[in-house]
Amino acid sequence: MLELHEIVKHYRIGESEPVHAVDGVSLKVRKGELVALYGPSGSGKSTLLLLIAALLRPDSGSIVLDGHEISALSDQKAARYRLRELGFVRQTLNLTPGVSAVDNAALKLMGMGVRAREAREQVTPLMDTLGLEDRLHHRSDQLSMGERQRVMIARALSTDPKLVLADEPTGSLDSRRGQEVLELLAGVCRQRELTVVLVTHDPQAASYADRVLTLRDGQLRDDEPEPRLVSVDAS
Ligand SMILES: Nc1ncnc2c1ncn2[C@@H]1O[C@H](COP(=O)(O)OP(=O)(O)OP(=O)(O)O)[C@@H](O)[C@H]1O
Ligand SMILES: [Mg+2]
Repeated sequence: MLELHEIVKHYRIGESEPVHAVDGVSLKVRKGELVALYGPSGSGKSTLLLLIAALLRPDSGSIVLDGHEISALSDQKAARYRLRELGFVRQTLNLTPGVSAVDNAALKLMGMGVRAREAREQVTPLMDTLGLEDRLHHRSDQLSMGERQRVMIARALSTDPKLVLADEPTGSLDSRRGQEVLELLAGVCRQRELTVVLVTHDPQAASYADRVLTLRDGQLRDDEPEPRLVSVDAS
């Protein structure tokens, strides 16, 4: 359903050597599949997600979602694609200040034309699942970092997107909450046949994924073994 073919993205700043952020990545993700993307800092993970989200254009290569070429969309069509088909949890938090958690989570639904009250009602069960039931009316500056991240996740999943991109969604969560969030993502993926590409550094996160891909210097490495799963001591 998602196909990347020989994607290249080099960043050029002034006269210095270009950064080969993504350097010939080909990849197929099946409908309903949860793919975890591993790789050291600077290996091109966020760049790859930005390309799939049509927030960046590749220098060359194609990105096809359900038969539609993503890398050639006009700015307007790209914005519509992000609103209607994509759920994107960015690596940086992007909450509207001074607005309640529930309204922040409902923002995308409202952007799609759902009335505010209905949007709040729709997003509330998702916020409950994410452990935010007692934080609905806190403003974003009154939330912990982990809570803010969960509001972003609620917003991204609120519209039942076709494709979910998550850039280290558990980065600022403690391990228990992190595990809960990954369980939710995996659960939603299976239930609604959502397709998920999840960037993570957490070796346990891989245990939720159908497949783990390793990115290094902008290239997928299939010769590297999967990161070893850490066994959890239940005591
Ligand atoms: N806008 C930009 N302009 C120039 N270079 C960039 C830009 N964004 C990223 N880079 C460079 O491209 C490379 C890949 O960056 P990217 O953010 O994709 O890495 P990453 O794998 O997401 O890293 P991290 O795990 O630290 O988030 C890095 O060397 C980075 O310095
Ligand atoms: Mg990144």
